[in-house]
Amino acid sequence: MTQSFTIRRPDDWHLHLRDGAMLRAVLPETARHFARAIIMPNLVPPVVTGKDAAAYRDRILAALPDGMSFEPLMTLYLTETTDAADVAAAAKSGLVKAVKLYPAGATTNSASGVRDFDKVRGVLEKMAEVGLPLCVHGEVTDPAVDIFDREAVFIDRVLDPVRKATRGLRVVMEHITTANGVDYVKSQDDMGGTITTHHLVINRNHILVGGIKPHYYCLPVAKREEHRLALVKAATSGDPHFFLGTDSAPHIDALKEHACGCAGCFTATNTMSVLAEVFEAAAALETLEAFASLNGPAFYRLPPNEETITLTKGDPVTYPDRVDSGDGPVTVFDPGFPLHWRVS
Ligand code: NCD
Ligand code: ZN
Repeated sequence: MTQSFTIRRPDDWHLHLRDGAMLRAVLPETARHFARAIIMPNLVPPVVTGKDAAAYRDRILAALPDGMSFEPLMTLYLTETTDAADVAAAAKSGLVKAVKLYPAGATTNSASGVRDFDKVRGVLEKMAEVGLPLCVHGEVTDPAVDIFDREAVFIDRVLDPVRKATRGLRVVMEHITTANGVDYVKSQDDMGGTITTHHLVINRNHILVGGIKPHYYCLPVAKREEHRLALVKAATSGDPHFFLGTDSAPHIDALKEHACGCAGCFTATNTMSVLAEVFEAAAALETLEAFASLNGPAFYRLPPNEETITLTKGDPVTYPDRVDSGDGPVTVFDPGFPLHWRVS
């Protein structure tokens, strides 16, 4: 018997598209299945102003192959000198859908991020006033804090105080990797939490046991199995706080397989097939639409997509192992199990 089901076309609420040749290579991988994506602004130099975001959006649309439809939802990179009026104008025009907070030094290309939160207070207050969400990379950068504890410590030291100081600010805790993140997001009214594809599949053993696997290294780093299970439970629960943000983050293999390898898993190509396996294993295929296609638009106050995709179960589906970026190959995330769900 063929098993098949149809859901509204999904969106990706956290995506790295990069620029130039890499952008041209990875954009079709997302646009094949996804209608829209929140586009991360951590280019070099970062996308800081409304003008930067408009130019980047135009480069993305120019890179979209003919016959594909895709809407980039732009974000601004919050710096200590970000101008609140520029942010408000970019939001009002509909160009910008969120502002991204990187604690300085937390991850790839985050050097221009925030060190002193008092310096961004005015921008956060303006965002609360106009209802513009803040997307947060939730890790402290204090070298004294163990890398596996950085998310949990961030909630207490930064996230909760910032939210309490800026009433009404709508916050997405991005790529949550811990039960602590799940519990915090779930307990708050004006919050969303994105969960990546790979954090639903791997725990820290996948990175480190039997030899180091650089293609499983990303930030926030995957945690213990109990945390992965908490993420699966949250993603498959249907709870509107949680939605898909793949954090698909392409780096060429030469920079992943390196003495100081870059953080990021490239999941754009096979995410929907991987998710279908994860949700099926959790006996929760009926909540995949909420996670991938409904909860995100509801949080961002956008309509869900009218088009649909159909997932059909059959013989294992193969995806390319690598996508050629022009600068070199980019390895596609290997979930470590066969994929039976194909997307049409
Ligand atoms: C991202 C990247 O490569 O830009 N890397 C990652 O490991 N997720 C940055 C980020 O989102 O932290
Ligand atoms: Zn990211």
